[in-house]
This record gives sequence, C-alpha cells and structure tokens, in this order.
Amino acid sequence: MSVTWALPFETKIQPKLNGNKQVTIETYKEIHQKSIEDFRGFWASVASELEWFKAWDKVLDDSNPPFYKWFVGGELNASYLTLDRHVRTWRKNKVAIIWEGEPVDENGNPKEKRVLTYYDLYREVNRVAYLLKTKYGLKKGDTIAIYLPMIPELPIFMLAAARLGVVFTVVFSGFSADALASRINDSEAKLLVTADGAWRRGKIINLKEIADKALEKAPTVKDVIVVRRVGINVNMKPGRDAYYDELMKQVPLDAYVEPERVKSEDPLYILYTSGTTGKPKGIVHDTGGYLTLLHATMRWVFDIRDDDIYWCTADIGWVTGHSYIVFGPLLEGATEIMYEGALDYPQPDRWVSIIERYGVTIFYTSPTAVRQFMKYGDEWVKRHNTSTVRLIHTVGEPINPEAFEWLWKLVGRSEVPFGSTWWMTETGGIMISHLPGLYLIPLKPGTNGMPILGVNADVLDENGNPAKVEERGYLVIKNPWPGMPLTIYKDPERYVKVYWSKFPGFFYAGDYAVKDRDGYFWILGRADEVIKVAGHRLGTYELESALIENPAVAEAAVIGIPDPVKGEVPVGFVILKAGYTPSKELEKELQETVRQKVGPIASLNGIYFVSKLPKTRSGKIMRRVIRAVVTKSEVGDITTLEDEASVEEIKKALEEFRAELEKTG
Ligand code: WTA
Repeated sequence: MSVTWALPFETKIQPKLNGNKQVTIETYKEIHQKSIEDFRGFWASVASELEWFKAWDKVLDDSNPPFYKWFVGGELNASYLTLDRHVRTWRKNKVAIIWEGEPVDENGNPKEKRVLTYYDLYREVNRVAYLLKTKYGLKKGDTIAIYLPMIPELPIFMLAAARLGVVFTVVFSGFSADALASRINDSEAKLLVTADGAWRRGKIINLKEIADKALEKAPTVKDVIVVRRVGINVNMKPGRDAYYDELMKQVPLDAYVEPERVKSEDPLYILYTSGTTGKPKGIVHDTGGYLTLLHATMRWVFDIRDDDIYWCTADIGWVTGHSYIVFGPLLEGATEIMYEGALDYPQPDRWVSIIERYGVTIFYTSPTAVRQFMKYGDEWVKRHNTSTVRLIHTVGEPINPEAFEWLWKLVGRSEVPFGSTWWMTETGGIMISHLPGLYLIPLKPGTNGMPILGVNADVLDENGNPAKVEERGYLVIKNPWPGMPLTIYKDPERYVKVYWSKFPGFFYAGDYAVKDRDGYFWILGRADEVIKVAGHRLGTYELESALIENPAVAEAAVIGIPDPVKGEVPVGFVILKAGYTPSKELEKELQETVRQKVGPIASLNGIYFVSKLPKTRSGKIMRRVIRAVVTKSEVGDITTLEDEASVEEIKKALEEFRAELEKTG
C-alpha cells in the first residue's frame, strides 16, 4: 500500500553565506552523481587526507559482502591522529576541550571548569595508556568497558584504549546495572572504568553502587578503576577496585606510549544499540573507514575551522558523542565544549549561558532539546548574547518545522545554515545532510537534505523499487561506505539478517523516508519497533522483558506514542497473571521494575492493564496495531503487515482491546 506524505513545509530558505560556496540543487546532484559512480576512488582521496603509518593496498575489500573492509593493508592509530599529530604543530597549546561541570554556586554560576589543551590531553592519554598497559597488562585485542558520566576522563580513557589498540565499549551512565552487566558480558570486557557517582540535576547518582551490582553478574571484569567525581564514600573491593587518582600518582608525568599500529579494519569500539527483537546489538566499528567518514563530515557538515568553538550537546554514551564529541572534533584539531549535565539546570537558560560564556560558533543538538527550550519561552534565550553562533545542526529524530523556525530565528538570527543530520549508530557518521562546509544548497525547515558525497542513499517501496516522489518508502544505502559496521559482535548472521536481507545488496536502515520534488530526503521515523525517546534509542524488547520479570506480569507489550516534546514516549500494555488485580500500586511497582532493569531513561509514560493483546496467529504481538488504536490513527495496513494472521481474528482482538482500553481509561 502506498502512503503519500504531506510534507510539512516546502519553504526554501537561503542562509547568509559566510565563506560557504553556494550551488544550485542541480549542480549538487551532478557532483554527487560523480562521487558515487566512483565511490571507491572518491573515498580513497578523502582517506589520503589522514596520516597513515602505512598506506592501504586495497581501497575496498568486497569479496565477502556484506562484510566489507575499507582501506585494507593500511595502518593507523586513532589516538595518534587525534593527538600526536596536533601536538607536533602550532595546535600543541590550542584548547581541545573546555569542560564545564553541572554544579552551580548560590548565584547559579558554574563552579567547575577544566581546560585541556591538545598537549594536556596528549599527556593524560599517554599516562592512562601507560597505566592500562603496565599495571593491567592490556594489549591489542583486549576489551574494556567504560561507565562514566560526562567528565574529561571519559574521552581520555577512550583515546588511551585506542592508543593501545584495546577495544572499548562505553555504556551510557543512565543505564541500569542489568544493562551494564549484559554489555560487559557480551563484550567480555576485562576491566571496567567507572566513577563514584555522577551529577544529574543537582542530585548524585550512585554510579559505583550500580556498577557493583552489575559486576556480581559480570565475571569477565577482573579490575575496576574508579574516578572520584562527586566525593561520596563507596565500597572498594580489595584486589579489584582502585581509585584513578591514586593509580595515576604512580605514573610518570611524562609517560609516553608508542601508539599501536592498528590495521584499518581493526575494531575501534563496540557500541550497543537497540534493535527490534532480542538483546541490544554490539555494533562494531573499524578504525580507518570510521575516521575517514568523521574527517569528511566534520569538514563538510560542520564546516569546522580553527577559530571555531564547537559544541555538541550529546552524551558520549551514545554514538553522537563517540563520533562528534570525541573522535570527529579532535581529529580536526578543533576547540570544543564538553558539558556535564542537564541543559536546563539549574535554570532553563543554562544552554544559552554556555553559548554566551564560551562564544560557541557551531551548535549541534537534538530536536527534543529545542522543543523543551521552546516550551520555557523566548525570554530565557533573549537574556544571552548568542551572536557568535554561525552554524546549527540537529540529530536523533525528525525536527518539526516549528522547532526549526524557533531556533533558527532566536539563535540563528534567521541567517545561519541549519540542517538535520540523518545517521545512526550503525552508519558511524552522518549520511544525509546539508554540507555547508562544501556546497550550500537551499534549506527547508525539517528536511534532512541530500545524501552526502560518496553515499548513495535511496527510498524504496515494499517491492524494492524506487518510491515515487512524495511516496513514503524505506530508506536504504546502496553502496558500502567508510564508517559502516564491521559486524554485530559475535553475531554475524544477525548482522546480515537485520540490515542486508530486506533489500538484498542494500543496507536497510529501518527508517521510513520520502523524497520530495527536489530530491531532498525527509526521514519520517522508525519503520520498526525501535522507540526514540528524546532522541535516545530504546528497543521494545528490553522494556518488555523488564516488565515480564515482575512476577505479576504474564505478557507485556510496549509501544512508542507521539509526544510533543520528547518526540515519542513509551507506554506499556500488560496482561496480569491469575490472582493479580490491576492497581495504582502495581503500576508504580512495574514502573520501578523498568527503571531498575533498564535505567532511569526508560520510564514508561503509563501502563495499561488489559486481558488480551492483538497478536498474529503465530503469537507475535502486533505493536503497530496497538499504536494505531492508541493514537486513533488508521489501522489500515494490517493485511500487508502480517500475513500469518487472519484479519478477522485481529479485528476481534482489536475490538476487545479497545473495549478494555475504554474500561481502564
Ligand atoms: C533517527 C543517532 C530524523 C532515525 C545518530 C535513525 C533521525 C535513528 C535523524 C538512529 C534525523 C537520527 N532526522 N531521524 N536527523 N537522526 N534519526 O542509532 O530513526 O541513536 O534510524 O543514532 O535515529 O538512532 P541512533
């Protein structure tokens, strides 16, 4: 069934040029066409701008698709490229990271600031690499897990691991003990880096306590390094746990560790992300291809220059922070802001005060944040001078034209380039975006723009044919690109099944998209059961399995429903076991179970008790049908959605379900 999409807006806007090169849409298309015709040659020329210890023999090994390998035979090191290379130039004393802590004094002024130059960062990373190597004996091929809040030690440990060729997996500090344990176990991490606690909205989160709980179930971890952040007393297990500051006292100030010569296709990190079914997938990223894509997008998308003050508001626990706080900006020798806490703490203008305080020029944030700021009102923004901002992008979810217009006007003075960059954990870096650093085409509020050079993206219908203009279809990427995953860790079959089977030969992103008359892409949201809460990716499976762990619950379904600020919020539908009756207390208890099992980011926005859930004959819960019922939208395409089930059966289940819903409100 074809769905024609009413595009929200088609106003073209022309940002003011600031050294950017303006081209027509047609010209961009021609340039783009050339770049994808010879995408190997094109990407090789980009990769040659990095410094390689050894040049590659082959640009792309495509002998075993979809397990592509980029720049085979090439050798490099991510820590060398982000640090050593700059330290040898005038950038040695250039500021790399300006970090601001969350806590404020009684006047609301930030209490803590740390400034790290490239040389400072280089020193610290070398010392930590020395510690990991000499004290813990870590070497290339080992894996460590990092569970830290947004403090400079987070990028420092990531870069130190990279220096040794040690693979790291960062676990977002808002995840629970269970989530941490499952990630440690899957990645078989030998060492865990964590903190005593974390600041969040003025409160302390007992990170070490959560880590200890996780470690009860995560036997691969033999050693724990604890960074003192909040200064609370924590349990230290003798022989296993050690404080970072104490360990570092034993490391020479001028420790130097030779950067490991890693192969281009050697893994840099594993990042776990939610899928449709089953446990989170360990997306494995390579080194050479990944850094090539980051180098390209930092220049093309962010137009990064030496005098910029760049700020990406993401948390490093998610891919956006990996690529566009840690590796991307540092690769380019940029100066960036790293902020520890909530953007609206202690007052709604914290984020604008940061822009003003440091003179931020490039601002990369999420639509949820923008909608939240918008709700607080214009006054908070107008209190501050944001005139340094010259470029804005958002990421993580579609941006509605209202939010776009609001930020563009208030902070972007209705003149700066402003785009919505589409990409995902799996793609490693930005794939569809405006490229103000290269060629600027007219902008449209809400659009993602066009695929970047060297990336052949398209929108296909159910049968794999190109969707018509303005017809909703599935987003695919038709050529291998640097930055693509190596595989799903320890599950290559799943990698093939999830991404490369729906449209054989093409990477299936799992998103709905449309192309408009000009060829601009509009990514509409997930076509599967992944939920995007405030731009954070959550799988229904994780939330449902958390609910089912409660003894009262027989069956559970979780769906995402639209929310004016967060984009989507999860709600749960629960069938209780015999002997249990619905109550407010039970609802609270279930809420708590989910928080415990998944983490505070996963709070459900409501739990409904029902006696039946719409399913297919084979027993699969039809979440999309539930969503249609809840949002009172067309349930239309159930026939095409599930062929195993008879429509009548579903309709009946639906009616009962509706009646139930009405009963429970
Ligand atoms: C969504 C985040 C619309 C999309 C970098 C994708 C977007 C998922 C955009 C990946 C955007 C990301 N416009 N949707 N600009 N950016 N998405 O892995 O649904 O956390 O599949 O990576 O976010 O989420 P992930």
